[in-house]
Amino acid sequence: MNDSPIGVYDSGLGGLTVWLEIRRLLPAESLVYLGDGKNCPYGSRPGEEIRVLADEAVGRLVHDEGCKLVVVACNTATAAAIDSLRAKYAGVPIVGMEPAVKPACLATRSRVVGVLATERSLDGELFRHTAARYGEGIEVLTVPGRGFVELVESDRESTPEAETCVRAAVEPMLERGADQIVLGCTHYPFLLPVLKRVVAGHGVTIVDPSPAVARRVEQLLDENGLRASRMHRPTFEFRTFADEAYRRRLERKALESL
Ligand code: DGL
Repeated sequence: MNDSPIGVYDSGLGGLTVWLEIRRLLPAESLVYLGDGKNCPYGSRPGEEIRVLADEAVGRLVHDEGCKLVVVACNTATAAAIDSLRAKYAGVPIVGMEPAVKPACLATRSRVVGVLATERSLDGELFRHTAARYGEGIEVLTVPGRGFVELVESDRESTPEAETCVRAAVEPMLERGADQIVLGCTHYPFLLPVLKRVVAGHGVTIVDPSPAVARRVEQLLDENGLRASRMHRPTFEFRTFADEAYRRRLERKALESL
């Protein structure tokens, strides 16, 4: 038993899509969400820079917030930093984002799978390995979601501009016959209403890995005896490296998503 919070970290608002799944699956757990905000987007930064930012964030969650487990709810930070974070914070279980290429490759009937992610995630080792491992005999099309993170960060995810952006990225996948589209960035589920409109009638399944990440958190809590006690009253805190206005936006967006 351990009533300390679970930390959830992202470059900005995106990790709230994972926060929501954790909150749904584990309603008795306290959560501290840290959305960097000041350095977002991470997606085209060099790996070394992302490692420094991720270290600062996870250090804050572990040392200042006393988190018992940390979720790196950012594919880009996972790809760049998960190994160094696990080595440095060895006493705390750290869960990263898995590119959901495996379930998509198992489910495809057209043998064409599309993956949307940031540039940095797509050229990282983690993604290359997963695609090579599960994508044998399957065409895995990778497309960076150009402008997607910026749209979400500025509350423009439901605008006609968002639809134009999503269409530009997704149409080439549809033309090749993709029947699975993997969301490889935690910001992208905020674009789901637009995405669904764009793929309507094409028989496409959109694969979001966040429910699987929440299940992994549950499994690690059980394996390590870290579940909150029966009497625990959960709290939900929001932190940022940006300003108070951004912190309040995180909070509002999280509550809106419930
Ligand atoms: N939400 C992030 C991800 O899952 C990062 C987006 C960004 O900052 O570029 O990759």
